[in-house]
Amino acid sequence: LSGGGLPLLRAQREAAAERLPPEVLDYYDAGAGDEVTRREGALAWASYRLRPRVLRDVGTVSTETTLLGQHLAHPVGVAPMAFHALATPDGELATAAATGANGGLLGLSTRSSRSLEEVAAAAAQHGAPWWFQVYVMKDRSLTEALVRRAVDAGAGALVLTGDTPYVGRKRRVTGTRLSVPDDHFLVNLAPHFAERVDAGGAELTVAAQRAAAEQDPTIDLATIGWLAEVSGLPVLVKGVLRGDDAVACLQAGAAGVVVSNHGGRQLDRSVPSALALPEVAAAVREHARVSGPLPGGYAPVVLVDGGVRTGTDVLTALALGADGVLVGRPLLWALAAGGADAAGACIAEVVSDLKHAMALAGAASLSGITPDLVHPSGAVLS
Ligand code: FNR
Repeated sequence: LSGGGLPLLRAQREAAAERLPPEVLDYYDAGAGDEVTRREGALAWASYRLRPRVLRDVGTVSTETTLLGQHLAHPVGVAPMAFHALATPDGELATAAATGANGGLLGLSTRSSRSLEEVAAAAAQHGAPWWFQVYVMKDRSLTEALVRRAVDAGAGALVLTGDTPYVGRKRRVTGTRLSVPDDHFLVNLAPHFAERVDAGGAELTVAAQRAAAEQDPTIDLATIGWLAEVSGLPVLVKGVLRGDDAVACLQAGAAGVVVSNHGGRQLDRSVPSALALPEVAAAVREHARVSGPLPGGYAPVVLVDGGVRTGTDVLTALALGADGVLVGRPLLWALAAGGADAAGACIAEVVSDLKHAMALAGAASLSGITPDLVHPSGAVLS
């Protein structure tokens, strides 16, 4: 949607393009392969048509919601993304402040560039609930130690990323590939490596540390139960694009799924999240109907990300069955454009646009955002 979208987000994107070194800009922006999936992410939301209701008293519109027992002022969370410190010196501390400032949810990546304890402290200070995204690393004991630290630091849930057995090939950055600084890549892991030596009694080289921290491609559905046991937290699986996969995850003990293609950074030509969402949401609801609530008494959760850029995108996602959305790249652009304040303004702008869209659709609260708001013909190409 070139030229479309919210003016503030567009301006932040432009400011980021001026300020960021080109290799960082490309690293953040790139998709995998020919970037078909990255490009289609936002377009797919715009391909649905809405059926607004009239005369529904929308003098006051509330976006409040609850996810797995966590009260939130709105359903627009921050997607877990690596290395915010490439955008702004405070990195994820700024993101935590921005999220807390307007009552949303923070997804914190395993690959954060500030230690998870530091981010947790900032999140607590600003009142931001946060969920910890887990990459299961080749060194399983390292993963376990990290998860235990996240639990101790106050994570509300784990988000196991399932679509990244290997990192997607982003042709745009191949060759000029950004070498993420070691102190960013290893910030969460350094304390564990400090205690280790190799077979010869020497400290581990940085290369050996980075190899141990790579994603483990052998993880499977049983990993969900393992993480739930280690953490005692609800575990969501991120990267689900099929109804049958969602059910398999729930049967393996997941508390929900994130419908996502990783912003087009993993398998190119994967279906856009907006088109996968109805199938996944229907499968999750049917599973919940048959199997009953989760242990805490909650219904399983469906989140979605990829190309969510406006309040109308959020409205559409919720009508299609999502309980909440995650926004990715716009937060990185905002951080680069103006740190925590700009990132807070970015989220606030999407929430304000959501409120406006809800009012025009005749929905005064999230419970008024029902599937019939979307035209039954589903997505149309325009
Ligand atoms: C990501 N994403 C991601 N996902 C994840 O589970 N762990 C991670 O560390 C990262 N890192 C990451 C870095 C960067 C630079 C980007 C752009 C994305 C994927 C992210 O959580 C989300 O799925 C997408 O970014 C959503 O799409 P949009 O909103 O960026 O279009």
